[in-house]
Amino acid sequence: MKKLTSLTDFSDDDGNIVESPTVFDKNIAITIRGRNNKIVVDPRARIKRLLVVFDCDNGTLLIGPNARHGFAMNIRIGQDSTVKIGADVTTTTMCIVSAVEGATVEFGDDVMIASENQFRADDGHPIFDVDSGLRVNPVKDIRIGSHVWFGAQAIALGGAVVGDGSVIGFRSVVTRTIPNNCIAVGTPAKVVRRHIAWERPHLSFVAPPYKPDISVIAKSEDHWRHTEEAMPIEPAAPVEAASNLRASKPGLVERVLGRFGYEKVR
Ligand SMILES: CC(C)(COP(=O)(O)OP(=O)(O)OC[C@H]1O[C@@H](n2cnc3c(N)ncnc32)[C@H](O)[C@@H]1OP(=O)(O)O)[C@@H](O)C(=O)NCCC(=O)NCCS
Repeated sequence: MKKLTSLTDFSDDDGNIVESPTVFDKNIAITIRGRNNKIVVDPRARIKRLLVVFDCDNGTLLIGPNARHGFAMNIRIGQDSTVKIGADVTTTTMCIVSAVEGATVEFGDDVMIASENQFRADDGHPIFDVDSGLRVNPVKDIRIGSHVWFGAQAIALGGAVVGDGSVIGFRSVVTRTIPNNCIAVGTPAKVVRRHIAWERPHLSFVAPPYKPDISVIAKSEDHWRHTEEAMPIEPAAPVEAASNLRASKPGLVERVLGRFGYEKVR
């Protein structure tokens, strides 16, 4: 088992790799138990606190650039599993992320995660049907679109898909697909309002102190859309274990990362 207390370029004899041209050495704790795990960090990332445990082999963590205040995350990555954090993702407090058994948990760009949130593709322990012996709680991917706001204590479980521009209410639990530009609340989260757009600046932090309509603050045009009930975000292409790609096809890792908006990291 290896423990790292900084994110900086690193490799070991087990094929574990960190690609991080910028050194992040505050509030970082990485535990690596297996082989061929990989972390790729954009040089412009902003990390408030990061705890990562790679339990097995072939895990991947991708961290995008951040022009906002950054994020704090406690992430578990299991066998063949991937966590992708897009650009400008923020959290108010530490959020928990878990992806094991080949799962992917993906955050788009400009995702605003409030306090005490969790994103769990797996349940942590297997549950079986006593007659067939088959697993009843298979792991499922989680995909959070861009410019999504997770209210305080809101949670996404395996199978959650949230479309761009949507708001998940306080203490809600997302288990299925929520379309774009809507508000979803409750357990399981259901849509209660469509055709909405939210703006990031805190109500009290930008003038004027009362905001009755959009004319008084800057409008983020890109996020003002009507709700479409169809599949809200494109399913991401699978990311192969970076070490495999590198061994067979140099340059392919960067092309795969580029597809998700990550820049080539040197
Ligand atoms: C969801 C929210 C944004 C309100 O959206 P809204 O469209 O104005 O919703 P309304 O207040 O009209 O409520 C619509 C329905 O959803 C219910 N509802 C609202 N928020 C809910 C929640 N978090 N959980 C469960 N039900 C909720 C309301 O009771 C109402 O139900 P009803 O129609 O049976 O009466 C707000 O309730 C919320 O959860 N905000 C998040 C706050 C937060 O966590 N901030 C963190 C700072 S980053």
